[in-house]
Amino acid sequence: MRGYYLIEAAKTAVENICPEVVSCADILAFAARDAFYLLTGKSDSDLYSVSAGRRDGNVSLLTEATTFLPRPDFGFSQLNNSFAAKGFSTDEMITLSGAHSVGQSHCSSFTSRLYPYNPDQIDPSYAQALQILCPQNAAVDGVVPQDNVTPDTLDAQYYTNVLNNEVLFFSDWALRNTSDLVAKVTIQSYTTPLIGNTLWKSKFIAAMQKLGQLDVLTGTQGQIRKTCGANN
Ligand code: HEM
Repeated sequence: MRGYYLIEAAKTAVENICPEVVSCADILAFAARDAFYLLTGKSDSDLYSVSAGRRDGNVSLLTEATTFLPRPDFGFSQLNNSFAAKGFSTDEMITLSGAHSVGQSHCSSFTSRLYPYNPDQIDPSYAQALQILCPQNAAVDGVVPQDNVTPDTLDAQYYTNVLNNEVLFFSDWALRNTSDLVAKVTIQSYTTPLIGNTLWKSKFIAAMQKLGQLDVLTGTQGQIRKTCGANN
């Protein structure tokens, strides 16, 4: 949960002015939008609209994360099933995965792919560079950029990295290791010169808006938490 303190900082700032009105769920949805805007290059059209009025849960269950979040060792059909269980299509799954064009990952999330590495699944020079950054049996779990080409920009570079076998997780590579036509066409469209990035951004925005509507609590359901890390 790298950067989680920012959510608590935003919550504290809002609570100081307007106590128990704005939920942590809303803060998270707006923070995701603002991160998108800042990391894609601050163009006005990237400041997409976010509906508000979500309420927070009365409980937080670890089992919900482990049951519903996809894992980095998932193959294509496991990824597809996990997104379909929440109403998301293959196209939307591929589109949202473009978020792996920014941020970092701990070595432990992918070292099983490095020792030994399979040259059919991971580019040999990329694998060797990762082996230096993530030594086997290291005492400290290091972090590396998700996108080795444009690490600090949120863009469609991820899809080129997928096709070049320069992605960290088995689940990233799995997006190309399928005969699924939708997956192939979607990835191809996002790697098309000149239009790929714009197309990806507009579809990413739509998918994020849909994600922000998923399983929301409204009205008198749940609560407005005083602090995001604990229920009231
Ligand atoms: C498709 C299934 C997905 C899997 C299996 C997956 C898995 C992971 C894993 C294992 C990490 C590294 C965690 C660590 O070691 O610290 C990670 C990082 C990240 N993921 Fe995903 N993820 C998926 C989809 C998504 C989606 C849909 C989004 C957002 C729309 C997303 C955004 C991110 C971001 C921004 C990071 C970097 C976090 C940081 O910088 O600390 N991922 N993901």
